[in-house]
Amino acid sequence: MAEKAYTEMFKPIKIGSLELKNRLAMAPVTTNFTQAGYPNEEFIAFLAARARGGIGLHVTPPAVNLFPGSPTHVLFPVLSEKAHLPAWNEVVETIHAFGAKAFGQVLVGGVGRQTAPGAVSKAPSAVPVIRVPPENVPKKAKAYEKRKGLPSLWERYKDLPPPIVLTIEEIQWIEDAYAHTSQLMKECGFDGAELHFAHGYLGDNFLSPRTNLRTDEYGGSLENRTRVFRNAINKTREKVGHSFVLGVRLTGNEHVLGGTTPEDACRIAKIGEEEGLDYIHLTAGCWESVKWYVPEEDNTMLPEAELMKDAVEIPVITPAIHSPANVEKAIKEGKTDMVSFCRPLIADPEWVNKVEAGEEKSIRKCIRCIGCLQRTRRALGLRCEVNREVGQER
Ligand SMILES: Cc1cc2nc3c(=O)[nH]c(=O)nc-3n(C[C@H](O)[C@H](O)[C@H](O)COP(=O)(O)O)c2cc1C
Ligand code: SF4
Repeated sequence: MAEKAYTEMFKPIKIGSLELKNRLAMAPVTTNFTQAGYPNEEFIAFLAARARGGIGLHVTPPAVNLFPGSPTHVLFPVLSEKAHLPAWNEVVETIHAFGAKAFGQVLVGGVGRQTAPGAVSKAPSAVPVIRVPPENVPKKAKAYEKRKGLPSLWERYKDLPPPIVLTIEEIQWIEDAYAHTSQLMKECGFDGAELHFAHGYLGDNFLSPRTNLRTDEYGGSLENRTRVFRNAINKTREKVGHSFVLGVRLTGNEHVLGGTTPEDACRIAKIGEEEGLDYIHLTAGCWESVKWYVPEEDNTMLPEAELMKDAVEIPVITPAIHSPANVEKAIKEGKTDMVSFCRPLIADPEWVNKVEAGEEKSIRKCIRCIGCLQRTRRALGLRCEVNREVGQER
């Protein structure tokens, strides 16, 4: 029998006390497949196809706890009340039915400095998005807009009004909201929760010295900037106990002057580990450095992953590696414990099964046009330029 080309990525791994069948995960992806705030059939069928594709772990699209009175659109799937449990239980049961574990991403939504243009949002400090530098926009994204005859998405984020500064009471509500949604996740059968502290959204706004200019106990020193992070972890642990897996999505490098550096990120991850986290799911960039968030080539987040692996003992998950050979190499060389996939599994939900069966050549490759992200940022349902079945899976 021929030897398997790739073995490392198919080895089981433990996160907390939970064993995963392999080291390959679906990364969270906002789909806009919802109805009145509930995950709809498109949502569940989209996730089912990815779970069926052989991944060991599915980190779901964000389950959102909406900030009161938030001026946001209605496309978020919410999880903040018992009434939302049956819909999310359906999501979990579906993922489990295909042999993958399910972690839910927790996002406190409709708040933070990257909310939709036209809305006045609230954030730790009044630091608006003023401009997305053209050199930070992926080249293929501009080509996509030209091909489709679309106005530039990036221009829409020019001169956003400064966010309103959050009060202490509102910040405490946010900490509780992370814990409350995580508790609901446990109730509806998830194996773990992933707190969203990443890529320029609300949680990350507190961590970054660029976007958190507060002078109270929530700003200034690293200890103060990580206060929401630490309180959210602790309040969540109080609600879910220690056997439920708890991780965070964390920016390894903001790639903007004055923002979070890889060294800062390692310190934050270490603090998180000491507070009881079970894993770190890396990401990079933010809206102003979007080409680092959805990179144009493989391995761009590996330098941060390597540093992070030295800083913490808990598993590190790294996205943005599309080629099977690069995935195998990164895991084999110990640069990351697991790899997560967003665009590769949008383009081909069978990526993992195909690699395992030695059918790598038949993978339908993502062309990194970010048409998917362009659509969701324009409040449209997720679609893919190379996979016409996205959104039609059911
Ligand atoms: C359409 C789209 C939606 C995304 N939505 C989320 C999200 O809701 N939460 C999150 O943490 N990351 C989100 N991401 C980032 C991905 O999880 C991932 O980190 C990024 O796409 C890079 O990995 P990839 O090269 O495997 O796509 C999104 C990415 C895309 C393309
Ligand atoms: S997943 Fe599809 S739409 Fe998104 S970047 Fe890849 S090819 Fe383009």
